[in-house]
Amino acid sequence: MLQLWHVGRISHVNLQEGGQAPVAPSAIQAGDTTFIESGLVRPSMPRALRTDEIPGLIEDYRNAARKAKAAGFDGVEVHMANSYLLDQFIRDSTNRRDDIYGGPVENRTRLPIEVATAVAEIWGADRVGVRLSPLTCFAGDTNLDGDPQHTYGFLVERLGTLGLAYLHCIEGQTRGDNAKNAFDFQALRRAFGGQYIANNSYDRALAIETQIRLQVTILNFGRSAPK
Ligand SMILES: Cc1cc2nc3c(=O)[nH]c(=O)nc-3n(C[C@H](O)[C@H](O)[C@H](O)COP(=O)(O)O)c2cc1C
Repeated sequence: MLQLWHVGRISHVNLQEGGQAPVAPSAIQAGDTTFIESGLVRPSMPRALRTDEIPGLIEDYRNAARKAKAAGFDGVEVHMANSYLLDQFIRDSTNRRDDIYGGPVENRTRLPIEVATAVAEIWGADRVGVRLSPLTCFAGDTNLDGDPQHTYGFLVERLGTLGLAYLHCIEGQTRGDNAKNAFDFQALRRAFGGQYIANNSYDRALAIETQIRLQVTILNFGRSAPK
């Protein structure tokens, strides 16, 4: 699967065509750092996307999906996690828009759903996955949604109706040393209703225990080495 990204405000003018400001749902600067050619710097102040720019953005995802197909991938995963652009739209902390893409949860989740729908039109829904991280902030930033369980629950219920291949969750900050917030990922999984991939801080023992207890069939390991 090829993962389709847009980092939104987690960028810098040095990385943008013509040194322009990065785009985001709202003009709110991210904290912490991003990489540029000289090292780590604070992300630049973004500019808010105009409503009339959104169709072009969706078209960019459509194009990327077409190119992934031409390149011979088996499918695509839409990156809605890690406080990147689509996640910035989802969260009320980074989305202060007053158009149809901001305000109530129905509006804040509109763009991610439109992107998933557009990409599914090219691939077929069963070749499209989505990745979410309801509790992950970008680096040291504090940009969580005000009610993650409700917001992401609402989103996955609608994504579930599209018949997507899977929901892939970074369950960060609910376990062990990282435990900061309570979040019911199994409720999210049920609301989605399809295949579920669990990730973050799993080792072999926890993966096997989770597989048996919760019948999760797919677990993803990133940098945590299975012991
Ligand atoms: C070097 C590195 C690169 C990563 N690149 C991506 C990426 O491209 N897309 C993504 O969704 N997550 C990326 N991640 C996050 C991992 O997919 C995973 O969510 C994270 O490492 C937590 O899982 P773990 O505890 O098993 O390592 C990356 C992580 C690392 C360490």
